[in-house]
Amino acid sequence: MSDLSATLSRVKPSPTIAVTTKAQELKAAGRDVIGLGAGEPDFDTPDHIKAAGIRAIEEGKTKYTAVDGIAELKAAICAKFKRDNGLEYVPAQVSVASGGKQILYNALMATLNPGDEVVIPAPYWVSYPDMVLLAGGEPVVVPAGIETGFKLTPEALEAAITPKTRWFIFNSPSNPTGAGYTWDELKGLTDVLMRHPHVWVMTDDMYEHLAYDDFQFCTPAQVEPALYDRTLTCNGVSKAYCMTGWRIGYAAGPERLIGAMRKIQSQSTSNPCTISQWAAVEALNGSHDFITENNAVFTRRRDLVVSMLNEIEGVECPVPNGAFYVYPSIAGLIGKTSAGGALIEDDEAFATALLEETGVAVVFGAAFGLSPNFRVSYATSDTALKEACGRIQAFCEGMT
Ligand SMILES: Cc1ncc(COP(=O)(O)O)c(C=O)c1O
Repeated sequence: MSDLSATLSRVKPSPTIAVTTKAQELKAAGRDVIGLGAGEPDFDTPDHIKAAGIRAIEEGKTKYTAVDGIAELKAAICAKFKRDNGLEYVPAQVSVASGGKQILYNALMATLNPGDEVVIPAPYWVSYPDMVLLAGGEPVVVPAGIETGFKLTPEALEAAITPKTRWFIFNSPSNPTGAGYTWDELKGLTDVLMRHPHVWVMTDDMYEHLAYDDFQFCTPAQVEPALYDRTLTCNGVSKAYCMTGWRIGYAAGPERLIGAMRKIQSQSTSNPCTISQWAAVEALNGSHDFITENNAVFTRRRDLVVSMLNEIEGVECPVPNGAFYVYPSIAGLIGKTSAGGALIEDDEAFATALLEETGVAVVFGAAFGLSPNFRVSYATSDTALKEACGRIQAFCEGMT
């Protein structure tokens, strides 16, 4: 359409929206729909964090703040990086935005020129390639399939880097697979990056605290301190603190980059919500006990979903060690026909037929750049998960 920008034409509409819309339509029509598409914990924001937000309102902390965050929050973020990751940052190296999404967007907008390449392992969080396109860059998608545990190998990273590579986007534990890189696996990647000094690292550590079993989270600048000067370490309070609606994300990195990101934010949204910033101070400085309790629930749900999905012939569901997603392969079902007569030619056909025939909403793998798979979010009740997985089992077993 000629009245819209050329930039917009570079961006695809979100494929996840089609699934969500269809699920909403069926629900509105009275169908019994179970949504396994949520990208957020079903737990409420903890009371002590809510109280900090309420206190901020009562104390009149409701005005504009510095564009990229109040001093108290930047101090809490510096303390967090030191405590959790052994990384030293000063407040001038910290940026706070309206969600982790805005942090990533600011950084890409502030650094990309036409033709600049950004290496993105697939499956990826749906927004990375489109944010790169919006910022004028070129996403270079590198498959990291089930055979390597959905983790990028050093060889694949090496092969993807060109003189035009500006950023490598890294996400562990991952959305959509839940896969987390061990120290040694990450060191394999940082060793490659050490050979390419022009490549910067954007690490999206959003699921840092949602780690299970004995998985130890690590982040690139911690594993390879020599990368510190070209790493943007991104994080936020949305997922682990059950604060998706409060919209606070943050990052730390080189001061010049942080300044450039501030400039973008100053001419777009200005400061993130003042009340939310005060709540985030409490989230980072206050008790983290609830995270351990929530993670015990998530672990139980993960085990339930993985075992029920692995009972299905034609489905392979690896056990992830973080986030709240599983990403089973349906390679063994492609080419079959559902009981309702749908030909399962790809994972989109699978998700569409599953929703229409059973009322279970999942997101198909093509949306995340790696097929044939689907993503299940287990951030919902045990009862709903049991019922949904039972329906998925019956749906798959009914195929011919
Ligand atoms: C990997 C990843 N990064 C970033 C975000 C964005 O988080 P926020 O809600 O803080 O913008 C999400 C949210 O789904 C995510 O899954």
